[in-house]
This record gives sequence, structure tokens and C-alpha cells, in this order.
Amino acid sequence: MNNDLKGKTIIITGANSGIGKAASIQLAKLGAHIVMMCRNRERGGQALQEVRAATGSDKIELILVDMSSQESVRNAVNEFLSKHSRLDVLIQNAANFDHRQKKPVITEDGLENVFATNHVNIFLMTHLLLDTLKQSAPSRIITVASKGLVTYPFLDIEFDNFKGEKKFSMQHAYYHAKQAQVMFTFDLAERLKGSGVTVNCVRVGNVAIPDTRLDHLPSWLVKIYHAKRKFALTPEKMAETYTWLAADPSLKDVTGGYWDAPETPVKANKNAYNHETQKRLWDATQKLASN
Ligand SMILES: NC(=O)c1ccc[n+]([C@@H]2O[C@H](COP(=O)([O-])OP(=O)(O)OC[C@H]3O[C@@H](n4cnc5c(N)ncnc54)[C@H](OP(=O)(O)O)[C@@H]3O)[C@@H](O)[C@H]2O)c1
Repeated sequence: MNNDLKGKTIIITGANSGIGKAASIQLAKLGAHIVMMCRNRERGGQALQEVRAATGSDKIELILVDMSSQESVRNAVNEFLSKHSRLDVLIQNAANFDHRQKKPVITEDGLENVFATNHVNIFLMTHLLLDTLKQSAPSRIITVASKGLVTYPFLDIEFDNFKGEKKFSMQHAYYHAKQAQVMFTFDLAERLKGSGVTVNCVRVGNVAIPDTRLDHLPSWLVKIYHAKRKFALTPEKMAETYTWLAADPSLKDVTGGYWDAPETPVKANKNAYNHETQKRLWDATQKLASN
């Protein structure tokens, strides 16, 4: 298997931490130019130094983006396009799962923050980069969902609850947005057939979150995370699936997949395959993404 990524450019959102940082290191080691898109200058800068030190590569850069803001997404894409003419892999890894949030928070674009960050603005960023991905074909888009969706076998898109106006909990909002990402993956993969751009979704399982990212949480939640950690994968192990989807040449034409691990496809819940809902979600998201 020749996984050489020399000459390839890869964007990874949420690259300053966890799986995103581990994937940045793995993909930089394969020779890719890595654009780490992070929301915080200090955390992003620190991670940039760590990834450079771990790989000895200087082909790693930082672009700031707050995925909850459409203006920030547009600015980040413009900054990327001002420096790069090609994009080989786009990894939509960043997500908000801040369990301190108890009520819906409305963003500057008038959207509920979790749905905006974890779905609508991913749709927006992907579309702003689509021409470049097509021009760089064969190219790849990787989205990220969650194994926790198996505990929501009947979850469907709630077209009347995009702002959490009918019901809201962080957990529900998070899984609803991840369900939307799975459907977006399947739909986009269909729409891009023949373009040379593939779209695949990683079903991330229980992955250890370091203590430094838990210190803002209430102690009862920290205890739950510590208990989960006993059975958790390392970010590095989970990142191997991102790296496989980004780099394995045999996947050039593989699209519309949902993956637990390399070579391990999984099924999404039944509603995720409903073409009518996928199309309705696409149209609704397009409207929400054009503020
Ligand atoms: N860990 C798990 O058990 C698990 C399970 C299922 C799915 N996942 C998924 O796996 C992916 C990676 O998670 P992880 O485990 O690596 O967690 P993590 O270490 O907390 O990483 C999340 C990343 O997303 C970034 N982020 C959050 N909100 C953002 C925003 N508004 N704009 C830009 N970046 C933002 C964070 O940046 P900051 O440093 O600024 O917060 C961080 O870099 C996520 O999509 C998550 O939903 C994880």
C-alpha cells in the first residue's frame, strides 16, 4: 500500500486536540501539507508547535475558524484559498459537545449553536471548498459522526426544532446534528458521483478525552468521563480511521460509506437512508447556511 501524501493538501478542523491533532500528526508523517483549522489562537498555536515537533515537518499551518460563525467560516475559507490552489482532503472533525450548555444558545446567524457548529456550518464550509476539491480530484471529504447514535435508533431530522424551540438538551442536540451529518454524507456522496470527490463518514466510538479538556465540567460529569475512559480508544487509534480514509489509494472511488475503523463499514440507523428526508434536510440546510 502506497500511502505517500507528498504534494497533497489536507484541512482538518478542530485539529488542536484529541483525534484531530492525532490525525494531523499521522497525515503530516505521510508527507501531506496540513492546514489545522482551530478556533483559538493560543490552543491552535500550541498544537501547531506540537505537530511540527512530532513530525519534523514545516508543511503545517494554522488557520483560525470558529465553526459556530458563518462569517468566520467564510473568512477561514478565503484565507485558505488565498494561499492554496488545491485541496485533496477535507476532514470535518470539529464539534461542539459542551455538556455545560443547558439551554439553546442562538448564534450571530440566528441558528442554534450545536446545529450550526456540528451541521449547518460544515455544510457551508464544504460547499465553499467544493470547486477547489473538484479541481483537485481525485479528492476526499471526511465527516464525523458518533457511535452513540446507536442508542437513538429512531432519531430523525426534526424540521420544527432546528433552534431547540420544542425541546433541547445538549445530548439530544448533539446526536441530532450528528444524524444530520450522516444524512448529509450519504446525500453529498450521491450528488458528487462522477466528480472524483468522495465523501465518507467516520463513526467515532468512545475515545479518551484528556483531563485538561474536562476541567471546566462539573465533578459528576468528570467522573462519568473517567469511567468511560477505562474502555476508551486512544485518539491516536481512532485517528487511524481518518488517516486510512484520507490516504489509502484503494479508496479512491469508495464513497457514501460509514466506518467504525479501517475496512470496517457499519450501518447507520434506518432513517438516515431516507432519500426524501435527505433532500429536505439539504434544502433546509442550504437556506440556513446562506445568512
Ligand atoms: N471523544 C469521543 O468519545 C467521541 C465520541 C463520538 C464522536 N466524537 C467526535 O469526534 C470528533 C473529535 O472529537 P475529540 O474526541 O477529538 O474531542 P476534542 O478533543 O474535544 O476535539 C474537539 C475539537 O473541536 C473543536 N471545536 C469545538 N467547537 C468548535 C468551534 N466552534 N469551532 C472550531 N472548532 C471547534 C475543539 O476546539 P477547542 O479546543 O477550541 O474546544 C477541538 O479542537 C468530534 O466530531 C466529536 O463529536 C468523539
